[in-house]
Amino acid sequence: MNQTKVCIKVPASTANLGPGFDCLGMALDIYAWIEMDFALKTKIILHGEQMLGIPLDKSNLIYKVAQMVFAEAGVSHPELEIAMYSEIPLTRGLGSSASAIIGGMVAANALIGNLLSQDKIFLMATQLEKHPDNVGASLFGGIVVASWDGVRADYIRIAPHERLEVLVAIPEFQLSTELARHALPKEVSMKDAVFNLSHSSLLVAALCSGNLEMIRHAMQDVLHQPYRAALVPGMEMILKEATDHGALGVALSGAGPTLLALVDKTSHEKAGLAEFMQNTLLKEDIKSTMMWLKPEALGVQVLANSVSLAELAAHK
Ligand code: HSE
Repeated sequence: MNQTKVCIKVPASTANLGPGFDCLGMALDIYAWIEMDFALKTKIILHGEQMLGIPLDKSNLIYKVAQMVFAEAGVSHPELEIAMYSEIPLTRGLGSSASAIIGGMVAANALIGNLLSQDKIFLMATQLEKHPDNVGASLFGGIVVASWDGVRADYIRIAPHERLEVLVAIPEFQLSTELARHALPKEVSMKDAVFNLSHSSLLVAALCSGNLEMIRHAMQDVLHQPYRAALVPGMEMILKEATDHGALGVALSGAGPTLLALVDKTSHEKAGLAEFMQNTLLKEDIKSTMMWLKPEALGVQVLANSVSLAELAAHK
């Protein structure tokens, strides 16, 4: 059976980048790995402590998305062996569920000789997540500008600027996307809609043209962050002041609670910025892990050589 086994590496992602609510995403250089093979009886192995609590039966998300791919391709493979290891923190706004969806779909598609196109996978993953930003970034890599109207999912990928680096403050508490979406109003004013349209457009233009100075002005939002601020104490101050401490721009990462700063990698203010973000959260009694990340230019990959997930987990 082992000749068929596939091994997938899929990046984490951040969504929204401030004003681009449900339409901008960026892949980041932390990853999940998924192995998948046909089997006689379904078996799911999860490596690493943070996977505790994730279902090991056919209710597992990766198993379920694999079955969606098979159904769409018109083939039947009800029994699978799946192994997973992820270094992407769960439920923190770094796209862990999108990486599982994309990883599971791409693994299943690779197992059946890529019967589905990448665009089909993008559409299916978007239908499942209900927004294209995280899944688009994990699938295609780089910065993804995407739209989803309930029927069509479209996207254009932008290569991340080579000087862009990413600092994330990952609070120790989890925040479900569902809860963070419930905090949002059902309707917004024309003024707020125009504010976000203009800032999101400006941000995309800044990222495309390499105008890094414009990011601080462009990366402002009134559609979701103000409503989510109460869920992440300290966030308001970080959003207001991080640019004074050397950030090019700052945002809530996806639905949070992680806060994300874009930074010029040549900046001399990196240590001060990290200290400011971490201390601001600490003042609210929130411990956080600071991580320096890079935009990941590559999307999900089917690896030519299998890696040992147990070894990856052991070295963390
Ligand atoms: N765009 C989504 C949101 C991302 O902000 O709710 C969730 O990860």
